[in-house]
Amino acid sequence: MEKLIAIAQKMRERAHAPYSHYTVGAAILTSAGKIIGGCNVESSSYGLTCCAERVALFRAVAAGHSSFKALAVATENGGSLCGACRQVVWDLCGNIPIIITDKNGKIKKTTSADLLPDAFDQTKLK
Ligand code: THU
Repeated sequence: MEKLIAIAQKMRERAHAPYSHYTVGAAILTSAGKIIGGCNVESSSYGLTCCAERVALFRAVAAGHSSFKALAVATENGGSLCGACRQVVWDLCGNIPIIITDKNGKIKKTTSADLLPDAFDQTKLK
């Protein structure tokens, strides 16, 4: 877990956030034990911005991973995951532990189920 958090913090340094200046890093642990990072990447057309959590997860899926064990997110102030990322994490990871850390290393632990109660997902589509 410490390694996962450290990588999320490192990824935060790679954020491209010239508009909001709110930098975010994320790191996803795959069931195979691999850690894949992401950072937020903003666009001048603001709505095209992609959050760090989704960059990490989409990188992991594109690299061939489909099973995930834990997610770490690093923000300046311990801010939590946005609603869109909560949905994507739930869809791709199910219920996993999520660790959120701030710039001082203060840690909050939660889960994807706690962050998205009564989630909509593929079970409602069958
Ligand atoms: N952001 C993330 O990367 N993850 C979140 O869960 C919350 C928001 C980014 C998007 C945007 O680049 C900046 O933070 C401000 O919203």
